[in-house]
Formats: sequence, C-alpha cells, structure tokens
Amino acid sequence: MMKTIKNRTVFCSDNFDIIKNIADDSIDLIYLDPPFNKNKNFKTKNYDYGFVDKWSSEDIDISHIEYIKKNHPMLYNLLDILNVITVNKYYIMYLSIRLIEMERILKDSGSIYIHTEPSVNHYIKIVMDIIFGEKNFINEIVWCYKSGGASKKRFAKKHDNILLYSKSDNYYFNAIKEKSYHGINYNTGNKNVILYDDNDSLGKYSLVNTKDWWDIPMMATSSKNRIGYPTQKPIELLKKIIMSSSKENDIVLDPFAGSGTTAIASELLSRKWLVIDKSDKTLDIIKSMIEKEPLISNDIIEKITYLNSH
Ligand SMILES: C[S@@+](CC[C@H](N)C(=O)[O-])C[C@H]1O[C@@H](n2cnc3c(N)ncnc32)[C@H](O)[C@@H]1O
Repeated sequence: MMKTIKNRTVFCSDNFDIIKNIADDSIDLIYLDPPFNKNKNFKTKNYDYGFVDKWSSEDIDISHIEYIKKNHPMLYNLLDILNVITVNKYYIMYLSIRLIEMERILKDSGSIYIHTEPSVNHYIKIVMDIIFGEKNFINEIVWCYKSGGASKKRFAKKHDNILLYSKSDNYYFNAIKEKSYHGINYNTGNKNVILYDDNDSLGKYSLVNTKDWWDIPMMATSSKNRIGYPTQKPIELLKKIIMSSSKENDIVLDPFAGSGTTAIASELLSRKWLVIDKSDKTLDIIKSMIEKEPLISNDIIEKITYLNSH
C-alpha cells in the first residue's frame, strides 16, 4: 500500500493497478476524463500518441465482476440491466471497478469530478449514485464550447457534462465568484448589489456565485499549450475545478491524464499532483507544457518522479 503520496508523480500504467495500491482516505480531489466509448482511435498531430476508445468483453477482468457481485450487489444488478439495454455496457463495467477504488482513496472532505458527455452521462450518473451515494451528488456542470464540427442531421453538439460528487457532507468547497454582465444602461434598484464596470462592451457587471454552466473555449489552435491532442482540455477548465474543490498543498489525482492538463493546472495553483496514463507519452507532453508555461519554473521538470510499470 502506498502510504505517502509523492508530489509530482507521473505513472505510466493501467490506472487500476496504481489506484488499488493507494491507501484509503488519502486524496483531496480527483478529476477524471476517461474515454467516452466513441468507438474510434484517437491520435495526436504533434506527438506519436493516441488511444483506442473501443470497449469489448476483452477489456473486462472477470475477477472485477466477481468482486462487484460479492461486494456491491446493487451495482452488479445495474450492470446486469445495462448488459441488455446499452452498447456501453463493457465501458461502464470497466469504469465501475475503477470508481469503486477512487471512492475508497478519496478523503472524507474530498470531491470527485467525472468528465462525461451526453451519450454516456446518464449511465455514469447512476453508477456514481450507487458508489458515492445519491445524497453526495453535488452538481452537474455543463461545459459549453464552440469549436468542433456539426452535422446537418441534429443540433450542433457543443457541450460536455461534468458530474461532481463528494464522499460525505463534510466536503470542502470554495464558492468562487464570477462576473455577471447586465448591459450598458443597467441600474440596480437594490443597494446591496454592487455594480462594477471594466469598460467591456458587455456593460456593467456584478459578482455572483459561479453557475453550473461554464462557457470556456476549447484550447485555441494558436495556444502555446496545444499539443494537437483531440481530447486535450483547457487549463482554465481544470483551474476552476481545482480552485473550487481544493486548497493549496492538497493532493490532486488524475487517473486518465492524457496530455497532463491537471498536472499543469495543479502546479500553477500550488497543489500536489499525481497523474496516471497508460501511454508512455504523458511525461514528455507534461515536460514540454512546463517548458512553454512562463508561470512554471523549468526546475520543476527535475522534480517529477516517473514510474513506468509496462
Ligand atoms: C480523454 S483522454 C484524457 C485527456 C486529458 N484530460 C487531457 O486534458 O489531455 C483519456 C486518456 O485516458 C487514457 N486511458 C484510458 N484507459 C486508461 C487506463 N485504464 N489507465 C490509464 N490511462 C487510461 C488514454 O491513454 C487517454 O490518454
């Protein structure tokens, strides 16, 4: 069992093998952005890096299903039903055993954000309700963006869902404020509402508690941090999550790290981090993102611990 978590660790491994060795109640914040069962292969432009997003019975370890049957009968019953109604059944089974372990390693005061999208969100939410408890569901965040293609046969799909759960009532939450614009000629009749003006064409604004829909652009093609990795998430998105659900020096885990966005956002906000990915390219990508990020010293690269179990 891993009793102490070493800050700035990159594991190259199946995340299950690492998470099952992390001690109970040791992580403050988990963000996971697993593949969405898109039935295709993802590839990067700039790195020889990609991952397969297709799931079959071969991805399922029978011992995991036996474990769920014995220890989580309600979840087992759900998986049995999903087995009949959805093509996502193997994908959901694969995630379930990992989410069980994530619940175990999360501190009582911790939070978990699972990044999903509309085709699988409803299945994952029921799984989360069973593993974390319906009462520990905190928010569904709708992340809106503009980029990407569109089909003539449906409304343009321009949002992802991010489910936020806690482990107990005792979870940490920092209610950060955001600007709410009211137009140029707005005057509030309420003397308790303070209006600000930043000379933006959007007019005057007040500061309000952050809403559960976030309008954050995808990483621009011109961004210095963009690696050409199709599922790379914006650093701003991760910063908002980390600021809302952790304090300085808290431990942040990303078990599906991809290009390491969580590591970079955690470093920028002085959080401890460990990330896991099956790919052996994650470390190189994190290093090159640090080199391009003026707010992170290059000395940090020397402080990263790399453990490759392949
Ligand atoms: C959607 S991407 C994550 C993108 C990431 N949030 C970012 O901003 O770059 C999913 C990642 O999960 C990794 N992955 C899939 N199954 C895994 C597993 N069992 N253990 C570790 N990594 C896994 C893939 O290699 C891929 O890099």
